[in-house]
Amino acid sequence: MVTLSKDVSRTDGSAGGNGYMSGFGNEHSCEALPNALPVGRFSPQKCAYGLYAEKLSSTAFTVPRAQSRRTWLYRIRPSVVQGEFRQLDHALLQSAPLGGGVAIPNQLRWDPFPIPQSPCDFIDGLVTMAANGDVLTQTGIGIHLYRANRSMEDRYFYNADGEVLIVPQQGGLRMLTECGILLVVPGEICVVPRGMKFRVELCHGGAVGYVCENYGAPLTLPERGPVGSDGFANDRDFLTPVAAFEERTGSFQLLAKFGGNLFACDIGHSPLDVVAWVGNSVPYKYDLRRFNVMGSISYDHPDPSIFTVLTSPSDTAGVANVDFVIFPERWMVAEGTFRPPWYHRNVMSEFMGLICGTYDAKPSGFLPGGASLHNSMSAHGPDTDAFEQATNARLEPVKLPDTLAFMFESRFIIKPSEFALRADQRQRNYLAAWQSLPVGFSTDRA
Ligand SMILES: [Fe+2]
Repeated sequence: MVTLSKDVSRTDGSAGGNGYMSGFGNEHSCEALPNALPVGRFSPQKCAYGLYAEKLSSTAFTVPRAQSRRTWLYRIRPSVVQGEFRQLDHALLQSAPLGGGVAIPNQLRWDPFPIPQSPCDFIDGLVTMAANGDVLTQTGIGIHLYRANRSMEDRYFYNADGEVLIVPQQGGLRMLTECGILLVVPGEICVVPRGMKFRVELCHGGAVGYVCENYGAPLTLPERGPVGSDGFANDRDFLTPVAAFEERTGSFQLLAKFGGNLFACDIGHSPLDVVAWVGNSVPYKYDLRRFNVMGSISYDHPDPSIFTVLTSPSDTAGVANVDFVIFPERWMVAEGTFRPPWYHRNVMSEFMGLICGTYDAKPSGFLPGGASLHNSMSAHGPDTDAFEQATNARLEPVKLPDTLAFMFESRFIIKPSEFALRADQRQRNYLAAWQSLPVGFSTDRA
């Protein structure tokens, strides 16, 4: 059984001997060697230590200033020192629009997927569960699972197709990125900007988790509206690593996901050779236990948008390319109310996963490491057991302890992959969860 530490007070001051800087979207700057960072300009005629200056632009140059994301990297070699890419086979890693089959309105749910026996690192172990939008037009998302049993030793990766949101479910990850090192464990998430190079080491044994590959606009914090200036995910709790670099030569591979395909080239040095950097397009992690949960203290179950941690906006205000939403440990106190999530049909499409514990609408069948998909306008809601329990419970304040579910919610219909539809882990009797719901209707029960 997966449980999460209750300690949310630690400062997360170290990862592999390195530390973090806090804040979301900040113009961070740091250097792993004294005075490696230019002062007063980004591109001096000669950089300190003989470094090269290189800019990573994650948004167009001319987006409104508040949305601009870019980072200047001061590195031993510029990124263009690399071999020629060749396409690499990875049958299970796919992109939108997914080929084969059709999107279906059926409610879908899967048991957890085991870690393969054969050697597989974070990239080998990726399997696409679903996708929407179009990777070539930078809309929508890819939804993947990762199942790894070894570290990426001599392989590095970047994703030109999207920002990478990693949601660990089992096992810690040591994320070595161009900007530094992050230690990420279940209960935390990590986001790596589009195009940023990284490799993943496993902390102990195997690692399993979920990936949202965000083809769209970079994830940002949602507006708070009348909630005010604090609450939900607070800016201060997002942690970005301090600069750390590898000075390492050898026969390495650089992998790239580009245009929906995987490519590899030879590279004779570590591309994680950034000695100093300044900017706001940076990797970060966030401890989901820090989320300040809002909810009803009078009656009714509010829309789950109150649980949004991060959002990738679309071109339509209030309609997300993807929202990352969590259902963490919390108190339920609403009076005179059916407290679980209500029965629902939604224009947005909902892919869910479970990190640990039990999700209140599904006391059985939805397992940690599993997943479900309720597509646009596909009906869903509490199963029979949850309905019976919720309609008969005494409405005292109740704590939902030791639980952490999440949702990738998107404006576009989510198409499951052929792998997901054919997998042994697909629960082909999922609809049965609702078919024994009682009919209590009677004209005598007004
Ligand atoms: Fe829903």
